[in-house]
Amino acid sequence: MNRFTGRTALVTGGARGIGRAVALRLAQEGANVAVSDISEEAASATAKEIWEETGAPAVGLSHDVRDEERTRAIPSLVAEGLGAPPDVVVCNAGIQRREDVLTLSRSGWQEMMDVHAMGSLFTMQAAARVMVPLGRGSIVLVSSAAVLQGSRSAAHYAAAKSAMLSLVKSFGATLAPDGIRVNAVAPGMVDTELLARSNNELAELEGVPVEEVIRKRVGQIPLRRMATPEDVAGAVAYLASDDAAYVTGECIYVTGGGLMF
Ligand SMILES: NC(=O)c1ccc[n+]([C@@H]2O[C@H](COP(=O)([O-])OP(=O)(O)OC[C@H]3O[C@@H](n4cnc5c(N)ncnc54)[C@H](O)[C@@H]3O)[C@@H](O)[C@H]2O)c1
Repeated sequence: MNRFTGRTALVTGGARGIGRAVALRLAQEGANVAVSDISEEAASATAKEIWEETGAPAVGLSHDVRDEERTRAIPSLVAEGLGAPPDVVVCNAGIQRREDVLTLSRSGWQEMMDVHAMGSLFTMQAAARVMVPLGRGSIVLVSSAAVLQGSRSAAHYAAAKSAMLSLVKSFGATLAPDGIRVNAVAPGMVDTELLARSNNELAELEGVPVEEVIRKRVGQIPLRRMATPEDVAGAVAYLASDDAAYVTGECIYVTGGGLMF
């Protein structure tokens, strides 16, 4: 498939994990890709790998999504590097740190909100500024199935990911008349460094071996495995593409059936 030929994509937090898989998938389908990440070195290394693997033009950009000024400049930097501003933007940058909801700190809460909610807000504003004059564009946010689950140690993460889904609706409604679609994916467990760290923290909090945490969590998934980053990239690519031309303000849960019960 070449659904993104002639398109320019920006993937935040694109150096690793899900973001990396999304950037690679979009490039495989013809997009020119900007990989932005808080780690410039990792972003550039991933962009180089993508270029070597697909032949698609790819650039790496230093970008902390909490930095409003930098975020505002990102579309111009993408245009400088790739010849056009992004008409596909994936807000994927994210972190996960566990903290007990009964003693959750202001800084723990704020950090989650800053990266996920505020970071997505600024990135979508920057995207809208370049997409509205184009009269087209597609924005996809990477939220989490945690929004639907109660969790003692991830309440702040789930709240921040819920805020992202709310932003999808507000931006979706605002930008639809300009031909811009805004959607989200909400993955369950995806085999990445973030998940490994998060499972280790959970095991420590619960005082059990991490293998037991993983066994229990995977046992609750009907498809009996974690997602791969590529599983999520497929859903993101669908929403970003014209295959989803009549889909906006929606969220696809990528959970291996984990929400059926
Ligand atoms: N892995 C999972 O199980 C899972 C499940 C649901 C949702 N998610 C979400 O998917 C997204 C990607 O997660 P992942 O599992 O690939 O994690 P990851 O840690 O493998 O990759 C995240 C990337 O984001 C970057 N990043 C972190 N903070 C940033 C910031 N302030 N600005 C810019 N970049 C920043 C990191 O450097 C890293 O490259 C996150 O938003 C995460 O919350 C992950």
